Amino acid sequence: MIEQKALSNHPELKETFNNLLQRLEQRISQKTTDMGEKPFTIPVTHYTDPSRFEKEQKLLRNKLTALGAASLVIEPGQFFTVTPYKMPLIVTRDKENKVRVFANVCSHRGAILKQEKQGCSNAFICPYHSWSYNLNGELLNIPGMKTGMPNCDKKSLALREYPCIIRAGIVWTILDNNNTIDTTFDALANELDHLLLDDFQFFHESVYYGDFNWKLGVESFLEVYHFSYAHGKTLPNLKYRNICLIDSFADHGRIVVPINSLEEQMKNIPRSDWEFLQHVNVMYFIFPGNFLLVFDDHFAWINIEPISQQKTKLTCTTLVPAKYEEEKKQKFQRISMGLEMITKEDYELCATIQKGLAGKSLDNFSYTCFEEMILRFHNSIDNSLQ
Ligand code: FES
Ligand SMILES: [Fe+2]
Repeated sequence: MIEQKALSNHPELKETFNNLLQRLEQRISQKTTDMGEKPFTIPVTHYTDPSRFEKEQKLLRNKLTALGAASLVIEPGQFFTVTPYKMPLIVTRDKENKVRVFANVCSHRGAILKQEKQGCSNAFICPYHSWSYNLNGELLNIPGMKTGMPNCDKKSLALREYPCIIRAGIVWTILDNNNTIDTTFDALANELDHLLLDDFQFFHESVYYGDFNWKLGVESFLEVYHFSYAHGKTLPNLKYRNICLIDSFADHGRIVVPINSLEEQMKNIPRSDWEFLQHVNVMYFIFPGNFLLVFDDHFAWINIEPISQQKTKLTCTTLVPAKYEEEKKQKFQRISMGLEMITKEDYELCATIQKGLAGKSLDNFSYTCFEEMILRFHNSIDNSLQ
């Protein structure tokens, strides 16, 4: 069983976390926060221009796409299906224990192979003309092949495969076949690997659709400036108004937010014994549309996916240790529900922003220094679009 102390006290993380605590101590005593050097603006056309959205869609297919909890494919033959960016995919574990991602599309005439959300199977058999594929995506059998398709090169009719890695308990892919996944995670890899999140399992999922551009959804997680106002009632644990630490790792980021109990620890416990995750919330941003919210004994994964220029899907998944005491269940449920409420508050506000843009009264959004991570997010998009 993964104890909560194992998360905070991993030797490789201890130094990083101690440094972060020292930075927080300074910020709290000076009542300041990490922030950018100057305010900035972003043209509102970035949220309304259809040609911009087209380009961004291409970019998103080139970047890391999270598909689902790896715990859904623990045994060979288990599979789950997903459709990110309208691409039907099947994620499975083959007999050699390798997790693989295939197009959930038959090579014959394109029927969807598996309609079920998840299941377990030795082979994927198409419901239309019964072409079958093994767990490696190879075409096994074509009914009537000898006469109907003589000399068929079955190898060339394997399911299209996408690259895949598992990190932080989540299966990730790159949807553009010309791209590789190798180095995209490197900048954050050390921390994520040492948090041991790979062993965590699916607990709960909620899905929300909002009427706004996907970037507004991402931005709502990239700053804490709005917390005391927009979430005043839902986040009672926040006495440190607008204090956080921000760090970038290439296009990715980490935001550390202190919670009320931190001060008690700083006052009453020797620095050498300070705990980290018990007194802060850590939010990892994985560019372009994923967040991992790490709590003391479990974590939540938030996936933000554009459906259209003005429609966005948000999936919030809670992942917990494989084994935990029964009383923890209530805590996981409580935090999942709280997160749902906070997300709903953000998303309702985002929808009002998108509505307001239709009136064309604003040419630019004007951001404060507190919203620096949003500037970095937009810079990453701009650099990727060039
Ligand atoms: S479309 Fe799959 S077997 Fe025909
Ligand atoms: Fe929020």
